[in-house]
Amino acid sequence: MKKVFVETLGCQMNKSDSERILGMLSHFGFDEAERAEDADFLIINTCSIRQLSADKAYSRVGVWGKWKQKNRNLKIAFCGCVAQQDKDRLLKRFPYLDLVFGTHNIYQLPELVKRIYEGERVCAITQKPYIVDETQYEIKRADSLNAWIPITEGCDNFCTYCIVPFTRGRERSREPEKIIKEAEIAIKQGFKEITLLGQNVDSYGKTLGENVTLANLLRQLNKLEGKFRIRFVTSYPTDISDDLIDAVEECDKVCEYFHIPMQSGNSEVLAAMNRRYNREQYGAIVKKIRDRFEDVTITSDFIAGFPGETEEQFLDTLSAIDEFGLDYSNTAAYSPREFTKAAKWTDKFIDEDTKIKRLATLNEKVKEACLKSNKKFIGKTQEILVESSEEKDGQCILAGRARNNKIVHFSGDSSLIGQFVNVKITGASVWHLRGELL
Ligand code: SAH
Ligand code: SF4
Ligand code: F3S
Repeated sequence: MKKVFVETLGCQMNKSDSERILGMLSHFGFDEAERAEDADFLIINTCSIRQLSADKAYSRVGVWGKWKQKNRNLKIAFCGCVAQQDKDRLLKRFPYLDLVFGTHNIYQLPELVKRIYEGERVCAITQKPYIVDETQYEIKRADSLNAWIPITEGCDNFCTYCIVPFTRGRERSREPEKIIKEAEIAIKQGFKEITLLGQNVDSYGKTLGENVTLANLLRQLNKLEGKFRIRFVTSYPTDISDDLIDAVEECDKVCEYFHIPMQSGNSEVLAAMNRRYNREQYGAIVKKIRDRFEDVTITSDFIAGFPGETEEQFLDTLSAIDEFGLDYSNTAAYSPREFTKAAKWTDKFIDEDTKIKRLATLNEKVKEACLKSNKKFIGKTQEILVESSEEKDGQCILAGRARNNKIVHFSGDSSLIGQFVNVKITGASVWHLRGELL
């Protein structure tokens, strides 16, 4: 049996793709290798959201290229968002690559693998998805409790900084029947949480007809039997409909957790980013959700140092985190990306030092907000899905997640992993809560 190793550098969608790649290859005689060093076939699944992520892919594959000098039979493939962007430039730049395949070409893999084992060097990048019935293949899920289920892929928003519309293509949704079937299988296999994925998960169904919406999909999934949780990421602020909020409230399995990237707290910067809302509109959406759910967590993403961002405009981002009580935020310094509009505004670029300084200030604000948010839960009881255990000073410390996605540590027996338990929250730090098993 040949052994394949997939290294994944990107977001949840990227991780989900790797699980599908491994599953598909298992049908063609490939076993998963535990370490890259043990594999006959190496695949790097890349992310292009920032230059840093792309550079990581280039340097990693460079290391693999050296291994190939000692092992001529080793096959190396490069896929994911950097592949979709760089195309056959990659074959020229890295002469030891056997295969480059794009985000649209994952399900072409059986044919592509055959060709590289016949000695060909192949670049398979198309602008339209290569369509097969993907439900015929297994999925080798990396986690044993949470199952990622992609429901929509691609993006038509063209925010001026973002590469995703170029690497993932136009927005398209999977049929509800396929998603429900996949969820049913996962639940039967013992998964306790399903997370629906999409670059704009809340615009799910647009291409499929009027009644196909995220809200209705949640209602259908909620009817499946068994004790499990449902989450969905990532939401575009103005695509969160009242019906979606209603569905979250109605459906007991759907968790009170919303990831709604704001990107900037300043309305002029938001307009330059081509986001379809201003500061006030974003605030109104957050308020609407908070008014409905007591223990809800609302998280966000922010970019520091977008071209032309003034110090004052940056301060609006800090104040937005406070004003809207955002529980946690991912942060990044602006990174110019090929093909995107903002990358051409070089005269407005913010210098590296300022960007780094703003990012550090932003990160401090995020930490402060996290601690404040966590402290609100002291004294409350939360339902926790136990995920892992660790020995600490002779004690078994369990870690798990509340419905609102907060991480909670408490002592207990490792046999509780995979179970739902009630925990009383007794303490809070920046990155997690502490509690006592009830
Ligand atoms: N679809 C989601 C975001 C997907 S990309 C949305 O619309 O919010 C994930 C995050 O990466 C973005 O939220 C943004 O904060 C960050 N990001 C995207 N492009 C970037 C760039 N060029 N430089 C820095 N951060 C970027
Ligand atoms: Fe990128 Fe904007 Fe699409 Fe999100 S909505 S994936 S930030 S273009
Ligand atoms: Fe990165 Fe592509 Fe995801 S660019 S963030 S792996 S969609």
